[in-house]
Amino acid sequence: METKTVGVLGAGTMGHGIAQILIRSGYTVLLYDLSQQFLDAGAGRIAKGLNRDVEKDRMKAEERDQALSRLKTTTRVADLGGADFIVEAVTENLEVKAGVFRALEPHCRPGVIFASNTSSISITRLAATTQRPERFVGLHFFNPVPVMKLVEVVPGLQTSPETADKAVKLAESAGKTPVRVNDGPGFVSNRLLMPMLNEAVYCLMESVADAKGIDDVMKLGMNHPMGPLELADLIGLDVCLDIMKVLYEGFRDSKYRPCPLLEKMVNAGRLGRKTGRGFYEYAK
Ligand code: 3HC
Repeated sequence: METKTVGVLGAGTMGHGIAQILIRSGYTVLLYDLSQQFLDAGAGRIAKGLNRDVEKDRMKAEERDQALSRLKTTTRVADLGGADFIVEAVTENLEVKAGVFRALEPHCRPGVIFASNTSSISITRLAATTQRPERFVGLHFFNPVPVMKLVEVVPGLQTSPETADKAVKLAESAGKTPVRVNDGPGFVSNRLLMPMLNEAVYCLMESVADAKGIDDVMKLGMNHPMGPLELADLIGLDVCLDIMKVLYEGFRDSKYRPCPLLEKMVNAGRLGRKTGRGFYEYAK
């Protein structure tokens, strides 16, 4: 089955970015979320992103209009029955993700592939909650999606080679560079990234340097585009904490223990850019 129409579940930071690159690459996208308000916000961000491409001469105005005409939004999961491929980017919680797949599956044709943008939940485990574990794969995008080139393609234990190949093709056709990574806690990206961010929070907690000092060390000494604390604020401190917990529980190794200050920040609702305050303050 050729992929023409992609269902994207979730219109948040990752979902809207994924929908944006897909409509830009010629796919029709059925964007699903719980409320019209979330969908309108996501569609607004997509339009803003494509307007920026037009302003910067990366796209013609007619191409933007055509791309936007390929975006359909819905709050009814049944409307995704017409999709050839589904990419899920809802809340990072196994029960929530499994619930959405359960609601969706009766409406989908048997050959349709389900992909999850999970940042750390086991693909094997998520796949096993569906009736199609061999047609289930991880497709892990990076924030901001329109800018970051990488997509981790993560086959679970039961994923068929054809499914992984189709996921690779979808990522390539959307202008990304897929890297195949086997299923394991944090895959490669977050197994390496999150302990570094967590250690930066320990440095802050132990007053080794202030937030700016810690970030400057990594930007100026290691050429990182953002410091670890700035990046944690971009990703969301709740997301960072959840991923550290997945690593800690997945490896049962104390070296992955979440920093108490990270937990405290999350408990205080200082989640980073999205709440206007994390390690730094942001204008709303
Ligand atoms: N959404 C869309 N586009 C964005 C953006 C956003 N949130 N932030 C920046 N951009 C675009 C800008 O519009 C600009 O594009 P332009 O060509 O139209 O001007 C381009 O990115 C460069 O932006 P700036 O010039 O403002 O700033 P920088 O050069 O500093 O780049 C950055 C910004 C791309 C965010 C860069 O700092 C960076 O690469 N940071 C690291 C990001 C990163 O590591 N992401 C991965 C997070 S981990 C993850 O997502 C996995 C998950 O599982 C946790």
